[in-house]
Amino acid sequence: MISIGIIGGSGYAGKKLVEILTQHPFVKELTIYGNSTAGQQLYSVFPDLAGKTPDCTIVSAENVSFEHDLYFLSLPHGQALKFIPALIENGKKAIDLGGDYRLDTPEIYEKWYKLKHTSPMLLKEKIYGLADFIDSNYDGVSLIANPGCYPTATLLSLLPFTSRFAEDIVSVSTVAYSGTSGAGKTPKAEMLMSEMHGNVRAYNVNAHRHQPEVLQMLNKNGFDSPYSFTTHLLPVATGIYATSSIHLKKDISESEVIGLYEKKYGNSNFVRMRSLPPNLNWVVGTNFCDINVSVSNRVAVITSTIDNLVKGAAGQAVQNMNKLFHLDERLGLLHTGEKNVSIY
Ligand SMILES: NC(=O)c1ccc[n+]([C@@H]2O[C@H](COP(=O)([O-])OP(=O)(O)OC[C@H]3O[C@@H](n4cnc5c(N)ncnc54)[C@H](OP(=O)(O)O)[C@@H]3O)[C@@H](O)[C@H]2O)c1
Repeated sequence: MISIGIIGGSGYAGKKLVEILTQHPFVKELTIYGNSTAGQQLYSVFPDLAGKTPDCTIVSAENVSFEHDLYFLSLPHGQALKFIPALIENGKKAIDLGGDYRLDTPEIYEKWYKLKHTSPMLLKEKIYGLADFIDSNYDGVSLIANPGCYPTATLLSLLPFTSRFAEDIVSVSTVAYSGTSGAGKTPKAEMLMSEMHGNVRAYNVNAHRHQPEVLQMLNKNGFDSPYSFTTHLLPVATGIYATSSIHLKKDISESEVIGLYEKKYGNSNFVRMRSLPPNLNWVVGTNFCDINVSVSNRVAVITSTIDNLVKGAAGQAVQNMNKLFHLDERLGLLHTGEKNVSIY
């Protein structure tokens, strides 16, 4: 049985962690740490959780104890740097849902996050937990950097192709869309319903922090061509949709590409290959990533969609916990009798 602390359990992704971990058969206790909500009851912060999870008092993050086996950190960027080194030094395991440990060097972190990294050695020791892509086990791992929401949708859909056909690629362009919960619960004028209802806009063009994260992983897997990544805000609360266009130097048959994806994901519990571009509402509330590939006239178009708070945050983090503790990766996330169905 695993004892867990969630630092930032009172935020959007933290709440999803609480919901999932409450259903997990190997979780014996859960302490929720917060900041402005410290001292409040969980049910008063999230009235909808009444009856779904046990109530508890949210503990101040200033009083994080070392009594738990595993800590999830679900904090604004920069904040995890204050907790993770001490947790690791005290022999604890940590899964960070934020971006503080995803990039591999302090220089790249400082460039994109505008902060000095205070524990650069851990950037080398961590693993980047793209759970459905990693075939190896997590033996000896203490720190998992849980991938960002856009990178999860983008990388799961692109990596099989870019790893196999790296030399045949001219360039790749990803256009991705997110619901407003991707920005967390802190009120922002541009996220008001009166701004977003019936509206779509691109944002952080050529400047989104998830771009170096995606590119780092593509480069590590052999890709070395021009890449662009453009993010948009959608007038929905939840979900990510990513469409990548890959321009090719030569003809590659669609059936060969579909075969490649079937080989990678045919036995996956959480990646579902689709014969048509997936719909966002097929995955909302689930830990699935749905992917479709299409190749024509030397252009491959790959679409994918996930729930940003589940597969893009808490769900993948629990999947990583399961892998870390050598448990069935589906626990807490899927009925273990359920089979993945790839539909072609
Ligand atoms: N939202 C998504 O779709 C998503 C997806 C993937 C990854 N992430 C990442 O997950 C992390 C959390 O995102 P979120 O959307 O859940 O954010 P959020 O809704 O704003 O929640 C932030 C959490 O951090 C706590 N917190 C804030 N400042 C703190 C401080 N100085 N010390 C200790 N705790 C503090 C808050 O506590 P109080 O509520 O008590 O103030 C709250 O529990 C971020 O790094 C984000 O990039 C988010």
